[in-house]
Amino acid sequence: MKLAENKATLSFSNGSPSVELPVYQGNVGPDVVDIRKLYAQTGMFTYDPGFLSTASCQSAITYIDGDKGELLYRGYPIEQLATNCDFLETCHLLLYGELPNTEEKSKFTKLVTNHTMVNEQMQFFLRGFRRDAHPMAIMTGLVGALSAFYHDSTDINNPEHRNISAIRLIAKMPTLVAMAYKYTIGQPYMYPRNDLSYAGNFLHMMFATPCEEYKVSPVLERALDRIFILHADHEQNASTSTVRLCGSSGTNPFAAIAAGVACLWGPAHGGANEAALNMLYDIQKEGGVEKIGEFIKKVKDKNSSVKLMGFGHRVYKNYDPRAKLMQETCNEVLTELGLEKDPLFKLAKELEKIALEDEYFVSRKLYPNVDFYSGIVQRAIGIPVPLFTAIFALARTVGWIAQLNEMIGDPEYKIGRPRQLFTGSTKRDVQPLAKR
Ligand code: CMC
Repeated sequence: MKLAENKATLSFSNGSPSVELPVYQGNVGPDVVDIRKLYAQTGMFTYDPGFLSTASCQSAITYIDGDKGELLYRGYPIEQLATNCDFLETCHLLLYGELPNTEEKSKFTKLVTNHTMVNEQMQFFLRGFRRDAHPMAIMTGLVGALSAFYHDSTDINNPEHRNISAIRLIAKMPTLVAMAYKYTIGQPYMYPRNDLSYAGNFLHMMFATPCEEYKVSPVLERALDRIFILHADHEQNASTSTVRLCGSSGTNPFAAIAAGVACLWGPAHGGANEAALNMLYDIQKEGGVEKIGEFIKKVKDKNSSVKLMGFGHRVYKNYDPRAKLMQETCNEVLTELGLEKDPLFKLAKELEKIALEDEYFVSRKLYPNVDFYSGIVQRAIGIPVPLFTAIFALARTVGWIAQLNEMIGDPEYKIGRPRQLFTGSTKRDVQPLAKR
């Protein structure tokens, strides 16, 4: 970390001596005030629920400029990666810091495809779930269960274990998501096909059956690959921070990633794509475009808990660059499938237009995020709505594992242990039952 020339001085109005705190500079983005010694120096903690002003770690993986609407993986703009690279190249970049050359790409692809099958016993584990279980409930269980199947890569302090568990997780997530899907619809599982691309193989495991040939559509394959790239990492979001915190105790990588899956499930995070599509369905059911005004009214009403799902972001105070790319992919996929007049897409575009002109959204800098259009693309591909967040988890796995490995390799890493401002009862005596 680079020390800035200036320091921060914290002074108190009660005459307590002021303290000087070091300031560090990142390569880009806001400086940070180092408060690690604050408690030792003053007996005080800082208070920042929701981490509104707190950098929880140093990281060299992903950078977001929320005001500009810019997203960089290892310095590369997301637009360039989404247009010039595939998902496995992006995984290599996130994990190892550089885009692979031809030889490295082929080696990495071979390594990942070597691990796409899961232990056959996992089928029986899966059978314990109800057929109507939510795919994210199944995924939380399946990913956690990997630690029971792959004992030889669970030591977080061993770099070889970390690498092999990273490859296993990236390779097996599509297999697990497809298995979760096939299980709910009662179709036989399709084994991975290593002659297909990462996205192509996923489409095959999802939609092929043993009774007839399935041809992977290159447009859908590219669209899915783009969805994976756009969701691969997003710096210290809730699920990534969960993975880091969980992993900081030294638990195994599969358990830490399962914690990330659980966190991602929530509608304020990864569950937003499902919620956004359901919102569009609801407006459509109520009357479609004509009902947008009424819906927006509800969103703006402080007494209703209705939100415009797929809008707003903690970091982006401008158009989410992923949403632009996703809208482009949406156009491509709908054209390929002859669904240009898709009423939900029309509705989404109209809703976006109205919201972007509305003072409520303008003044709060609420713009569409990646989830606004990703649901429409996934639905067009044939992915059922409850599976959307599982696809997000599949794609984010590489980000989680890259961030986890970065943390373990950081000499400054410690078990995460936030403090609190206690507002409960002070010490008191237990009264005998009869006297309470
Ligand atoms: N619809 C209506 N109002 C909103 C929305 C929305 N989608 N998002 C924020 N606001 C309002 C909010 O009510 C608040 O208004 P006021 O200042 O009058 O109280 C103001 O905007 C600031 O919002 P906030 O809740 O303080 O912002 P936050 O940073 O805590 O929340 C968010 C960010 C993403 C949780 C929130 O915008 C949201 O719930 N959006 C809908 C869910 C969604 O699309 N999530 C996906 C995020 S992108 C994918 C991912 O990273 O997982």
